[in-house]
Amino acid sequence: MNRALELLAKFQARFGTSAVVYRAPGRVNLIGEHTDYNDGFVLPAAIGLSCWVAIAPRKDRKLVLVSENFAELIEADLDKLPLRGSDRWADYLLGVALTLEHDVAHLAIDRTNLALICQLSENQFVGARCGIMDQFFSCHGRAGHALILDCRSLDYRVFRLPPNLQLIICNTMVKHELGTSEYNARRAECEEAVRRLTGVLPGIRALRDVTLEQLEEHRHRLTDILYKRCRHVLTENLRVRNAVQAFETGEIGKIGKLMVESHSSLQNDYEVSCRELDIMVEISSRQRGVYGARMTGGGFGGCTINLVDAADAMEFQRRVAAEYESETNRRPDIYICAASQGVEAVDLDGGLAAGSKPGRETRGNT
Ligand code: GLA
Repeated sequence: MNRALELLAKFQARFGTSAVVYRAPGRVNLIGEHTDYNDGFVLPAAIGLSCWVAIAPRKDRKLVLVSENFAELIEADLDKLPLRGSDRWADYLLGVALTLEHDVAHLAIDRTNLALICQLSENQFVGARCGIMDQFFSCHGRAGHALILDCRSLDYRVFRLPPNLQLIICNTMVKHELGTSEYNARRAECEEAVRRLTGVLPGIRALRDVTLEQLEEHRHRLTDILYKRCRHVLTENLRVRNAVQAFETGEIGKIGKLMVESHSSLQNDYEVSCRELDIMVEISSRQRGVYGARMTGGGFGGCTINLVDAADAMEFQRRVAAEYESETNRRPDIYICAASQGVEAVDLDGGLAAGSKPGRETRGNT
């Protein structure tokens, strides 16, 4: 709340008008990596680390964006927006504005459509061919819960995370340097594999539709690399389903084992890990109270996710930080997280916020 009031005060000082403050959480994926754009399954939770935005309508056709992180002001003319981004932090916002302009401005937008609009903006304007996972969970997150999402039908199921379990995120402090190009390359490889397999499996639309038996049977149609990429996606989808079962029966040890398998599949078959991610996972796995550790997200740097017994969380944080720094000379950020609620308008006491209340549908407004 303090954060929202602080943001609002800064907004008022700069623009001389009030604003609505929104909070959009990040997400952490427990398991199911590089499966979303293959119409598969993912199992994330939204987390308390959030992006805070104060926003107010203007009378002219300008979009004025200020970021505290980048200390920069960007002004864009809504009638002259480019069709592609230019590798700046504002790209995503401009892309969303453009998508809303072309499509759905002034319509009430439900959370799933909001996520789809944001994904489209990433895909078309920013140029990252990401799946639906990040945006969907930022919109649909539920405090204290994880969700399994079927990325084809967008059906999802919510289940409570055991209260004695802590989600801990370790940032390797390695930027996803190769991120976008390698990510897009992986996606293209999956699409190429589907193209080759449709010759013998005409019913398939995505790797989601292929079984491991079929993959083995038609392996000769694929290069070794394509085969490995497919093997990761297919086995990862199975791991997600097994993890859900294990959560439901309270077998946390099993989830840990699946996380270990997931990391090794991402490392060896999908080849999206890196030295620092592997070191972080290795150090984390030998700590007390750890059920499972693996890289999370797109890879090539970024973070790991760890399921840790709540009683051991602080000690885990301290030890992993020290050991990782001594092995890599990088000081990691380590966050002990709680699963949080999805995007919401922040209710600022005393009527400071002009309008919407948490949980209301979000309205498109460029
Ligand atoms: C990135 C993308 C997601 C997903 C993950 C890998 O985070 O934005 O759509 O593909 O990588 O699971």
